[in-house]
Amino acid sequence: MTISDPVNLGDALASFDEVYSPRIVATMNDYDVRIAHTLGEHVWHVHEDTDEFFLVLEGQFDVAIRDANGDESVVVLTKGDTFVVPKGTEHKPSSPGGSILMFEPSGTSTTGDRHKGEIPDHVDSTSGHQL
Ligand code: NI
Repeated sequence: MTISDPVNLGDALASFDEVYSPRIVATMNDYDVRIAHTLGEHVWHVHEDTDEFFLVLEGQFDVAIRDANGDESVVVLTKGDTFVVPKGTEHKPSSPGGSILMFEPSGTSTTGDRHKGEIPDHVDSTSGHQL
């Protein structure tokens, strides 16, 4: 195995500016720990096979979700809050500004297995970039 150097989250966040363009800060087993700056509307999408974990590092991060009946609600998260979007759940993040940490299987796309509508220019459809 390879022993990685420690990563400071503050330094890592300061090393890039793009929003909704996650950087991989660590990989453990077959999971990534990713961080991202957040601002504006993301896109409705679904991860069919995996839950998605969020921790708000700074600011505010909201997650609109649709339940099995199609009813929408918005989970408002601020610094220190954690939330898990269950697999198969339609969700659309949005943010007035902030940063988040995500925990999800390596290879998971930011825009899911399927999405609704156009992907905004400020949303990077990716499985994460190296720092
Ligand atoms: Ni997602």
